[in-house]
Amino acid sequence: MKDKKIGGLAEVVAGQSAISTVGQEGIGLTYRGYAIEDLASQCSFEEVAYLLIHGHLPTIRELTEFKLRLIVLRELPVVLKKVLEDIPANANFMDVLRTGCSMLGTLEPETKEYGQIKIAERLLACLPTILLYWYHFHKTGKRIEPMVRADSIAAYFLQLLYEKPAESIYVNCINTSLILYAEHEFNASTFAARVTASTLSDFYSAIVSAIGTLKGSLHGGANEFAMRLIKKFDTPMAAKEGVRQMLAKKELIMGFGHRVYRLSDPRSIIIKQWSEKLADYTHDKSLFSISLAVEEIMWEEKKLFPNLDFYSASVYHFCHIPTEMFTPLFVMARVAGWSAHIIEQRANNKLIRPTSEYIGPTPKEFVAIEQRQ
Ligand SMILES: CC(C)(COP(=O)(O)OP(=O)(O)OC[C@H]1O[C@@H](n2cnc3c(N)ncnc32)[C@H](O)[C@@H]1OP(=O)(O)O)[C@@H](O)C(=O)NCCC(=O)NCCS
Repeated sequence: MKDKKIGGLAEVVAGQSAISTVGQEGIGLTYRGYAIEDLASQCSFEEVAYLLIHGHLPTIRELTEFKLRLIVLRELPVVLKKVLEDIPANANFMDVLRTGCSMLGTLEPETKEYGQIKIAERLLACLPTILLYWYHFHKTGKRIEPMVRADSIAAYFLQLLYEKPAESIYVNCINTSLILYAEHEFNASTFAARVTASTLSDFYSAIVSAIGTLKGSLHGGANEFAMRLIKKFDTPMAAKEGVRQMLAKKELIMGFGHRVYRLSDPRSIIIKQWSEKLADYTHDKSLFSISLAVEEIMWEEKKLFPNLDFYSASVYHFCHIPTEMFTPLFVMARVAGWSAHIIEQRANNKLIRPTSEYIGPTPKEFVAIEQRQ
């Protein structure tokens, strides 16, 4: 008999980590001890990425040098550009990132001299280029030039996408979103990265495992599904009725619920404020109010609250980001957290290899092939 309660390793402590706290009473969400509310309101994503990868908040000098390194690392090897050109135009955007990362691992493999911190910084810097090089080659017919002047990852991503510098409100919003998405303890993709790292595999392989895991709609893919859901409705009333019908059919509403949080997701409160602000800025008449209606009905019917993915959907939409890029943006942020976890796993490594409870048939007598029916 399958036991639902022990499924999915819920509430199982699967290891120790000094990187973040998630949902701990009285502490909330912290990265290396700092509250997410402080980081999101006062930091650039680069400061937070530095904190995660290097273990401490950077000084002005450390941050300046870090940002300069990231700018230099944006360019892609010619061979990788060629591979991106060969990936089909209709490929899934997450598959493009996964393949780009894997290909980079063959061109710039991990060695003693070219180690984990260098690779973490390289990926942080060039994942936006990988996605947008492929995107523009196939969608706008251009070979984009990666070395734009934008001095942050948020500004760089938006400038590559729009092909012109982005307004500061959008840059600030994406900066906050990247901070919120950067790290979240032993979530599925981070755990996948740690499992891969625990076998003593290389850094790129661990990140590729994580990207593949993040793609699923129960994890990072939820922000794209949330967008498709809210776009289906024209009015808040239609949204309430539609969601009610979906719930009656036992359908999942993506962007709601959480494995660890029980009452609310602290990240959702921050991103929801951005959604409201951008709705106002873009004179949106419906998407934000439809999102509010979905939130209300989910609480009324199921006592479920929005997670980070739900209001990220409308936020990204207001920033003119194509829906298929929502989960890739999550990758560009979470690569900081994944890197921190791979480094931490390696520092005190033990192969991650749990056991299962056997629920299969009792031992059987072997039947030779000629006698099988
Ligand atoms: C995140 C998630 C996987 C956590 O799930 P979990 O802790 O394993 O909780 P369960 O799947 O056991 O859900 C408990 C109950 O709530 C329901 N539920 C949970 N999330 C739901 C959602 N988003 N929509 C509708 N019902 C939901 C489940 O169907 C289940 O109902 P049941 O007891 O009648 O079977 C789940 O909430 C979910 O699928 N959410 C949607 C995907 C999503 O937003 N993912 C991003 C997470 S940050």
